[in-house]
This record gives sequence, C-alpha cells and structure tokens, in this order.
Amino acid sequence: MGNRIRTISVICCGCLLFILTGWINLHGDDGNPSSSIKPVSATSRNAYHRSADRSLFMGARACLDCHRSEFASWLSTEHFNNTINRFELDKDTIAKRYLEKHGSLDRCYQCHAAPKQKRFGRKFVETGTSCESCHGASGGEGGWLNRHAVYGPNTTHLEQETPQHFQNRIDFCDQAGMIRPGRQYLMAKQCMSCHLIGDPELISEDIGHPVSFDKFELLPYLNGEVRHNFHLNQRNNAKSPTLDTLRRGLSPTQRQRVYMIVEQLAKIEVAFNYLANLPNEEAFEERYADELIGIVEDGADFLDEYVEVLLEPDDSDVPPLNEAAVESLTIVLEEFEKFDDLDEPTRAAAADSARIVSKAANQFMTVMGDGSKLEALDIFFEDFGDPVGDILQP
Ligand code: HEC
Ligand code: HEC
Ligand code: HEC
Ligand code: HEC
Repeated sequence: MGNRIRTISVICCGCLLFILTGWINLHGDDGNPSSSIKPVSATSRNAYHRSADRSLFMGARACLDCHRSEFASWLSTEHFNNTINRFELDKDTIAKRYLEKHGSLDRCYQCHAAPKQKRFGRKFVETGTSCESCHGASGGEGGWLNRHAVYGPNTTHLEQETPQHFQNRIDFCDQAGMIRPGRQYLMAKQCMSCHLIGDPELISEDIGHPVSFDKFELLPYLNGEVRHNFHLNQRNNAKSPTLDTLRRGLSPTQRQRVYMIVEQLAKIEVAFNYLANLPNEEAFEERYADELIGIVEDGADFLDEYVEVLLEPDDSDVPPLNEAAVESLTIVLEEFEKFDDLDEPTRAAAADSARIVSKAANQFMTVMGDGSKLEALDIFFEDFGDPVGDILQP
C-alpha cells in the first residue's frame, strides 16, 4: 500500500485522502471492552503526562484539514501501516502469545496504535502510530489543538502575530504538552520511548517481541519516510522543519548537530528510566538489564568522542570549545561512570542518574541548542547511514 500512495501527488490525492480517512473511521477495534482507558482530568496532570494521555488524543483526522501533506506523508510510513499489517490478531503470533498471558493488548497499543474512547462507549483504535504519538496529545480542556493554530483575533496571519502573542501561544502549547520540532530533546526522547523497549517481559523468549535496541539511529530514521517538513510549502518536503527555520533561522546542518548529541542523551535518560522501573533489584541480574546498561554505555562512548572533537576540532579552522562550554555533556559522562562503578546497581541509583541526565540535557539545549557552536561535529556526518524508508516528495 505504501508504494502506491507514495507515487501520487498531494494535489490530486484529496479524494484518496477522503477514502482513506473514511476507511480509518471504520477501522475501529472493540476487542477488549474490559480494559478501558480512564480519562484523567487535564488539570491534575503535568505537561509530560498529559502528552502521553491517550484519552486526550484527537486522532490524525483532526489534523488533516490544515496539514494535508503531513497527513499524506504519514500514510506512506510504517507508523501508519503497522496496525493494519500486524494486528490481525489471529495471524500475529506475538499478539496471540501476549493475549493468552494477559488477556489484553493495551500494552501493544502504547507503541503500535492509539486507542481512544469513543462516544458510544466503544473503544476505538486510531490506526498506527499517529501524529499525537509523536507531537503529544492535543485534545481535552486545556489541550493545545485550537490554540497552536491561532495567531490572534479573527484573521490575523502568521506575519501579523505580535511577539507577545507568539510567546504566550508557545508557552501555552509547551505547558499543554505539545512536542514541537523546536524542542529537539523532547522529540528525540519521544522516538526512544517506543524504539527502545522498556518491558523485559515483552522481549523475553516467552513473548518474543523483536528488540530494536541496536537498530534505531535517530538521523537516518528521521530523514527517511518520517520526514514531513511541509508547513510553509505543502509541495516541498524541506530538509528541516520550515516553521522552526523561519523563527530560529537554523540550517538543517545546525539542527542535525543538535540531534547527534540529544540522540545520545535521550537514549541514556530513557535507558536509566527503564532500569529504574525494573520489577525488582534482582532483575539487574537478567540479560535485559545488561542490554539497557549497554545502551547507556554506547551513548556515553559516543558523547565522549563528540566532546573530544569539540574540545580539539580536527579542522584547525573550527574554533575549539573550552571545558566550561561542554559542561552539560561531561556531567552526563561523569554520571555514567558513577553508575558503572557501583558494586551493585540499584533502581534508586538509576532513577537519580536519569534525573541528572535530564537536567543536563535541558542545560545543553539552553546553552548550545542552536547548534552554532557544534561545527566540529560535522566531520561525523558522512558516517550516517542511508535514510530509513523513502522520502515523500509530492
Ligand atoms: C485549524 C488548522 C489546524 C489544525 C486542525 C491543526 N493544525 Fe497544526 N498548525 C496549524 C498552524 C496554522 C500552524 C503554524 C503555527 C505557527 O506558525 O507557529 C501549525 C503548526 C503545527 C506544528 C508545528 C509547530 C511548530 O512550532 O513548529 C505541529 C507539530 C502541528 N501543527 C501539529 C498538529 C497536529 C498533530 C494536529 C492534529 C492533532 C494539528 N496540528 C491540527 C494549523 C492547524
Ligand atoms: C515500547 C514500544 C512497543 C510495545 C509496547 C510493543 N511494540 Fe511491537 N514494535 C515496537 C517497535 C519499535 C517495533 C519495530 C522494531 C524494529 O523494526 O526494530 C515493533 C515491531 C513489532 C512487530 C513486527 C515484527 C517484525 O518482525 O517486523 C510486531 C508483530 C509487534 N511489534 C507486535 C507487538 C505486540 C503484539 C505487542 C503487544 C504485546 C507489541 N508489539 C508491543 C514497539 C513496541
Ligand atoms: C514519528 C513521529 C511523528 C509522527 C507520527 C508525526 N510527526 Fe510531525 N514531526 C515529527 C518530527 C520529529 C518533526 C520535526 C522534524 C525534524 O526535526 O527534522 C515534525 C514536524 C512536524 C511539523 C512541522 C513542519 C514544518 O515544516 O515546520 C508539522 C506541522 C507536523 N510535524 C505535523 C504532523 C502531523 C499533522 C502528523 C500526522 C499526520 C505528524 N506530524 C506525525 C514527528 C512526527
Ligand atoms: C508511539 C510509539 C512510536 C514513536 C513515538 C515513534 N515510533 Fe517509529 N515505529 C514505531 C513502531 C511500533 C514501528 C514498527 C512498525 C512495524 O514494523 O510494525 C516503528 C517504525 C519506525 C520506522 C520504520 C522502520 C523500518 O524498519 O522501516 C521509522 C523510520 C521510525 N519508526 C522512525 C521514528 C522516529 C524518527 C521517531 C521519532 C520522531 C519515531 N519513530 C517515534 C513506534 C513509534
């Protein structure tokens, strides 16, 4: 199906979108009435939890009117296709094994699809990993859906928005848990939350879910089929998000440098969090914990190399940074060493480390989040593999 959609242009695909969205509408799933997802009041949650609250998902169709090319692009990705291909339950052995054990597929929906409550009391599954799986839940009271698209009273246009209105709007959206392209660390962490599997049981031999630990690399995965930077020109899939480019003036290269670093920070933080959530301290003896510690270790190795090059660039024309400038990264490296030196790792220690990494990552974004000081990293660019999946160019 993906190939067929890829070959048609966005201009003439309005009718196709119509057919497909109608079809998605029908593609509900009421497989498990017993395990309903309880909506939680928006005000009682902080922004991070709100963005993951699937009862507040509006579904991709809520984005279609204003983001047609983004939508068309999503239809050609594995993120859209996976549910259809994988969740014909009688055919999927992983699902069958899991269902036998737990009697509910809610765990799978966390990454593979977006269930939400529908009006008629029937659980409805949005097809695939959808817009809000990455950009955060947008609905509910205090959700960002309406606010993010309004520049001011009546028909105020993009160029007419006042700086004050812009700031208030962005602050509101961030507070409401919107994960927008300008927040590169959050975006990277969002990918890792699914592409690193945090559930030892799921990947045990018993269930046999595939592990994507070693496979997921941020830049090739972002630059392939997932890329949909169409906002200011619905006919051109730009190399980096057009709105962020407009507002912060960052080149694709600058954003890539930042992604190189935040990829490692995000992997390290997410892996520490998974270690902190192991069922008990004994679980540190299992192979799964070793894999997670391996992720942290690999991340630290990459960072170490990046820090070295930033302090002493290969290219003598590139100004070197000093120790103070890379402090946020060295904090993370020290934290890893501290953890690695423990006689016995504990969940509490992993939780502490996760918090420290998160803080350091935010500090990094504040100080170097525009990528301008990271030029020395450009020597690594040619190492990146090919983009994963075709890029949609309508
Ligand atoms: C009524 C039209 C409309 C709808 C519906 C809509 N958007 Fe938007 N969206 C916009 C506009 C306009 C902007 C540009 C805002 C700006 O200039 O900051 C935008 C920007 C965005 C951005 C980029 C923000 C940034 O700061 O770079 C994302 C991500 C986004 N929308 C996601 C979504 C998702 C997901 C949905 C569905 C849940 C959705 N939008 C529904 C109009 C809409
Ligand atoms: C934490 C996120 C997460 C959860 C939870 C999860 N999956 Fe997955 N699943 C993934 C990712 C990521 C991939 C892609 C792995 C890759 O390509 O490296 C995947 C791949 C798959 C595949 C494709 C395997 C293949 O060889 O192509 C199947 C089938 C699958 N998952 C079924 C399930 C079922 C059934 C459940 C619930 C019991 C589930 N998954 C829960 C993230 C998850
Ligand atoms: C796999 C995660 C993922 C999914 C699914 C996803 N997005 Fe995005 N989106 C991103 C990322 C990441 C970026 C920024 C890309 C970058 O940094 O290179 C982005 C950028 C955007 C932008 C800004 C484009 C620009 O030119 O400024 C909009 C608008 C947007 N997405 C809307 C949507 C809509 C609507 C959907 C669903 C039809 C969707 N996204 C699905 C991850 C996702
Ligand atoms: C809500 C969970 C979730 C999030 C968030 C998520 N993904 Fe995925 N992604 C999946 C699953 C599940 C699959 C596997 C689909 C399958 O094969 O069944 C997948 C597959 C992919 C694939 C296709 C892999 C292939 O081998 O063809 C790419 C590329 C990808 N994801 C990139 C990203 C990027 C980049 C981000 C962050 C911007 C991201 N994903 C965020 C769940 C997620």
